[in-house]
Parts: sequence; C-alpha cells; structure tokens
Amino acid sequence: MTTPSLPMPSMSALGSSGFKLSKEHLVLAVPVVVVAAAGGFLVGQYLSRRGCKKGQVNTSISKDSPKVVHSFDMEDIGTKAVYCRCWKSKKFPYCDGAHAKHNEETGDNVGPLIVKKRDT
Ligand code: FES
Repeated sequence: MTTPSLPMPSMSALGSSGFKLSKEHLVLAVPVVVVAAAGGFLVGQYLSRRGCKKGQVNTSISKDSPKVVHSFDMEDIGTKAVYCRCWKSKKFPYCDGAHAKHNEETGDNVGPLIVKKRDT
C-alpha cells in the first residue's frame, strides 16, 4: 500500500535558498508593501495626533484655550481653599479627590495645594 503525497516543487525551481520570486511576483509585491507601509505610517500619525501629546498633564480641561489660568483674590478665598494639581478634578481648579485614583492607577504621588489663613 502506498501513502498519498502532496505535489512538491522541484528544488531547481526554488533556487538555492528554497524561495524564489519571479519578476511578475515582485511587480505585484513591491506596490503592495509600499502601500501597506504608507497606510501604517498614516494611521500611526493619525492615532498619535488624536491622543494626548507625550508629556501633557492636562487631558481634558479647557483644551480650546492656549493656556489655563485661574486667578483668585485673597479676600475671596475665605479661611481655606484646596486647589487641584493633578488636572483630574471634575471641579477644577478645586480638588475633588480625583488625585487619589490617579495616584493609585499610575503610582504617582500628586496632591492638592491647600491655601489657608493662619490660625491666630
Ligand atoms: S483632584 Fe487634583 S489634586 Fe486633588
């Protein structure tokens, strides 16, 4: 009894490395590789621009403004004010405790700025 075998190309058709592309295959393969590389590059550029730029700490607050600035008169602060320094507070510029979750998720150690009147 004989076992069926798959047709195998002869070694002379494969070349010395066992892999050989014809000119027709190269004419097809090169544009496909170039288009795939260009597409990957463009998708990468698009995704990197959509996300936050590297090093940004402010991911959501007044992003349409070139600079986020808050100013308070000392007389209006009262006896104590707690300001956010992690940029995660939903009540920015005031701290709402969101720094605790940020610290837990990232291993960071940020906390608020507390301004208070001295006890007399
Ligand atoms: S929420 Fe940002 S420092 Fe507390």
